[in-house]
Amino acid sequence: MILVTGATGNIGSALLKELHACGAGPLRGLTRDAARAVFPDQVEAVEGDFAEPASLKPALDGVRSLFLVSRLGSDADILEAARQAGVEHVVLVSSITVQTHPHLGPAGENLAVEQLLKASGMAWTILRPTQFASNALMWAASIRGHETVRAPYAETALPTIHPGDIAAVARVALTEPGHQGRTYALTGPEPVTARQQAEAIAAALGRQVPFAEISRQQAHAQMAAVFGAEAADAVLDVTGGDVNDELLMVRDTVSQVTGVPARPFRQWASENAVAFH
Ligand SMILES: NC(=O)c1ccc[n+]([C@@H]2O[C@H](COP(=O)([O-])OP(=O)(O)OC[C@H]3O[C@@H](n4cnc5c(N)ncnc54)[C@H](OP(=O)(O)O)[C@@H]3O)[C@@H](O)[C@H]2O)c1
Repeated sequence: MILVTGATGNIGSALLKELHACGAGPLRGLTRDAARAVFPDQVEAVEGDFAEPASLKPALDGVRSLFLVSRLGSDADILEAARQAGVEHVVLVSSITVQTHPHLGPAGENLAVEQLLKASGMAWTILRPTQFASNALMWAASIRGHETVRAPYAETALPTIHPGDIAAVARVALTEPGHQGRTYALTGPEPVTARQQAEAIAAALGRQVPFAEISRQQAHAQMAAVFGAEAADAVLDVTGGDVNDELLMVRDTVSQVTGVPARPFRQWASENAVAFH
């Protein structure tokens, strides 16, 4: 039994489709609201909340392989629940910031989860993706409303990754030998700026998407109101304020692990145009 957490999210929903298509199984998807979840046929929807690790017990029953999105609850308790349930292998979504910005608080939290997993006695595979293409969904309301997209660091080009490519790597790690004890830094195939992302969405929609660069201070005020000042500073550092060669580097890990090249941002934009209509 494979349990996919974050199963309604960007990576998890793509991963369930990948696992289902390749005949892996049985499969289970975790969500806090099974009534809302739309999973492929024969995927069992199970409810559980990371905020209450005891609620994960039924979901973990009989599970041997676990796909885990992290930092959404007490990861120590979640990993302990998995160990007690007899999980043998965990594929963990961490972050590339563990190696590019280890001094930042969120990166330190990701490193702590990685260390907990390595010390757990379960086999592990760690995925360290860079910034997701799906982060552009934060512009969806503005674009749908024909308003101007406003973003800082408009000309910083990052090798943004299609979440489907993280899912593809996870599917291989969960179903094929040779990936236990490995840490994979994952990026997209080319650097893309925020302005180019807005242009790619415009091309997918077949209409203009007005774009304006805003200052770090303006962006910080908006973001801090949602997730706090420290997290806002960390996000702003890793999206343009304090980038480094390690973060800007394009890697071919996706293609090495899956045999298929990583998908460019414009492909994500065209596949997800409906979100911006
Ligand atoms: N965005 C980035 O640029 C970036 C970069 C590096 C790493 N990451 C990591 O990527 C992961 C997010 O992946 P994603 O984009 O695929 O997710 P997402 O689309 O943001 O969706 C979040 C998922 O987590 C589930 N979830 C949220 N809170 C939960 C809780 N308390 N208990 C159980 N499940 C919960 C949601 O399920 P329900 O709502 O159905 O319960 C949903 O499936 C996080 O671990 C994040 O740290 C993100």
